[in-house]
Amino acid sequence: MFPLRNELAREASEAALIEAENPSDPQIHPVANSEPRLALPRIAMITGAGGLLGRAMHARLEKSGWRVVSFTHPELDITNDVDVQATIERIRPDVLINCVATADVDRCEIEPDWAYRVNEKGPESLARACRLVEAELVHVSTDYVFDGTKPGFYTQEDEPSPQSIYGTSKLAGELAVRKQNDRSYIVRTSWLFGAGGKNFGSRVIEYARNGAALKGVMDQTSIPTYAPDLAGRIEEIIDLGIHGLYQVTSTGPTNWLEFARLALDLAGLQDVKLEPVTRASLNQRAPRPQNSAMRCLLSEKLQLPPLRHWKDALKEFVGQC
Ligand SMILES: NC(=O)c1ccc[n+]([C@@H]2O[C@H](COP(=O)([O-])OP(=O)(O)OC[C@H]3O[C@@H](n4cnc5c(N)ncnc54)[C@H](OP(=O)(O)O)[C@@H]3O)[C@@H](O)[C@H]2O)c1
Repeated sequence: MFPLRNELAREASEAALIEAENPSDPQIHPVANSEPRLALPRIAMITGAGGLLGRAMHARLEKSGWRVVSFTHPELDITNDVDVQATIERIRPDVLINCVATADVDRCEIEPDWAYRVNEKGPESLARACRLVEAELVHVSTDYVFDGTKPGFYTQEDEPSPQSIYGTSKLAGELAVRKQNDRSYIVRTSWLFGAGGKNFGSRVIEYARNGAALKGVMDQTSIPTYAPDLAGRIEEIIDLGIHGLYQVTSTGPTNWLEFARLALDLAGLQDVKLEPVTRASLNQRAPRPQNSAMRCLLSEKLQLPPLRHWKDALKEFVGQC
């Protein structure tokens, strides 16, 4: 039985508001966490470590001197509650970063049980096991929790209203994590791209070099986010020690058509044809939000500087392709 959308949305929205608007909350005190953190060796555990963000997160934390213990899908399936409990009990991380995803949003519509197992029940197990060993949890979520009808930027004060099973199950995961572990950071992000990614943004250059016919969706807006930059921000958030709901993206809303055109141009593939299409013309099963660009009230309150523009990050990424 799936939770009601409105109920999930209301709870998430209320919780976000409290966290973003209550600077006197004892959790919102960077000093409280910083001293012991600097003095002790820190262990980070990563789940979903074989994916785009998981790899970027591993690289980032290892470079920063953390002891990083990473698990790919075959090494730890987060839907196996017994394995989850045993592994976290054994590793006893200071923080666990859950980078697991059901990347195929259309498959979620066909297999909702699978979507809820991975996006809600798995994170719930992780959060419970983390609480038992007093570990913090970073849980990554999505802009697809919003319905996409707002003209401007979505903030934590906007009520989530997911339109797809993917979005609804991810929102359920956010709430499950919050309920199980109040030492958690929920980090919503959008349109991830980077090395090793399997999605359109990460692979458009590869597709072009292989001679594929390319289509760029022109009527869906969000913010492409460079996975290594998100990983860096997640580390900063952990260092601050302020638990709550974050919305972390690169800077600058766009659509896939503009993103892909610039990626091709930067790669010297100006001659490659890119057909502008509407999302509806692709006949996909899951609805996508038409506009899901986000801002982060909590980051602004904490004076975390915006991440660089996606165009600058794309230049760096294309240089490695
Ligand atoms: N990609 C985006 O555009 C985007 C946008 C907004 C938010 N996000 C969020 O960002 C996070 C990271 O996404 P990503 O793009 O890095 O995803 P990704 O590249 O698809 O990686 C996800 C990883 O999770 C693994 N996985 C799937 N089911 C698992 C399970 N039951 N137990 C353990 N591992 C499992 C996958 O392994 P297999 O491949 O073997 O299944 C894969 O290695 C997710 O929370 C996602 O919802 C992503």
